[in-house]
Amino acid sequence: MSKRTIVKMPGDGIGKVVLEETIRVLDAAGFEADYVEGDIGWEFWCKEGNPLPDRTIKLIEEHKIGLFGAITSKPKDAATSELSEELKDKGLVYSSPIVGLRQHFGLDICMRPCRTYKGNPLNFIRRGPNNTIEEPEVDVVIFRQNTEGLYGGVEWSNPSEQVYDALMTHPKFKKNFEWCPKEELSVSTRIFTKKYTERILRAAFEHAKKYGYKSVTVCEKPNVIRETSGMMYKLAQEIQKKDYPNIQLWNTNIDAQMMWLTKNPEDYGVIVAGNMFGDIVSDGFAGLIGGLGFACSAQFNPETGIGVFEPTHGSAPKYADYETSIVNPIAMIESACMMLDFINENEIAAKIRKAVAEVVSEGQVRTYDMMKMPGRPDVVEKGAASTQQMADAVIAKL
Ligand code: NAI
Ligand code: MG
Repeated sequence: MSKRTIVKMPGDGIGKVVLEETIRVLDAAGFEADYVEGDIGWEFWCKEGNPLPDRTIKLIEEHKIGLFGAITSKPKDAATSELSEELKDKGLVYSSPIVGLRQHFGLDICMRPCRTYKGNPLNFIRRGPNNTIEEPEVDVVIFRQNTEGLYGGVEWSNPSEQVYDALMTHPKFKKNFEWCPKEELSVSTRIFTKKYTERILRAAFEHAKKYGYKSVTVCEKPNVIRETSGMMYKLAQEIQKKDYPNIQLWNTNIDAQMMWLTKNPEDYGVIVAGNMFGDIVSDGFAGLIGGLGFACSAQFNPETGIGVFEPTHGSAPKYADYETSIVNPIAMIESACMMLDFINENEIAAKIRKAVAEVVSEGQVRTYDMMKMPGRPDVVEKGAASTQQMADAVIAKL
């Protein structure tokens, strides 16, 4: 088989170090690939006025698989002030390159697994009957629609006459909002299309079937957001009935789901939601299994086979310049395992996951977050593992 080429995109801050350590782990696990580097992030915004240069887009078009660290984003004014002198008055507007990647390649399926590692001191525990302590085992995979909904970017402040007139055709708008001067109105739309709603639902059911989950939960708010959430739940009912009769379909509201998060997280299997509720519910579950040091994600387009794999954490600038890096590389390593699954290198993925699980359960090597220490440069002196030591420990298990 010909060797794979992976587009590695370290990005900014700790993205660079967690990606480098992850590639060491991939090498040690016997994954044979060539890596080409894709430029992305703050440096390219400042130097070129574009945090996602076209050459990076081309690399992904060609090689299809991207492994991404993290980027730094800053508010509009800060972004403009950090542009190099010759670019400052060109009217350039910063926008997040990771959102740009999602939109450019239509990476509509976002998958965020949250699985408990045995022995992780960050695992959620709760009080059981008679003052016992319970540590529920979470094994949830969240499927988040990644390109539409509230993050679709169709929004206005002081909308045009045409938009305003269109809104006025809705009886509820007329009744409840006509009092508001147009200049004082901001509107963000929540658009769901049947095609992409069906696609995220099918991806969720397929995953449940392939990996033996007993239920798929649609986590939205169909009783209030009748059109979009309602459409998703209705389609889910049809798909379940027709193609997945052996998988149970559950329906929860996002607000109640956040409450049940700590009550019975072990009951859920696959969860599927629109863009924003998927974002919320996946962060909620990630908190039960160790937080940002453990939260991984995949985003892909099933039609083109293009996928980008990344930890959900950001560039953590305050730790970026430490002489010895202290951040936890597990989220990035797990994201790489998702990449391996995506390209059918399941055996290597399983091997790496097993190695990580052993390191976590033995508890000899723990990064500062796992020791509940404040993140400071002296944590390694105090017994926490550095980023590199954690990767070394995983490699030793391999
Ligand atoms: P962040 O995720 O970078 O960091 C928040 C805090 O979480 C850190 O200070 C640290 O205490 C902890 N943390 C993060 N990753 C960790 C790891 N691997 N191990 C241990 N602890 C870890 O989020 P923040 O501070 O809100 O944003 C920093 C920058 O990152 C911003 O510019 C933001 O726009 C960007 N960002 C980028 C994302 C991406 O590239 N996908 C996602 C989130 C934020
Ligand atoms: Mg989020």
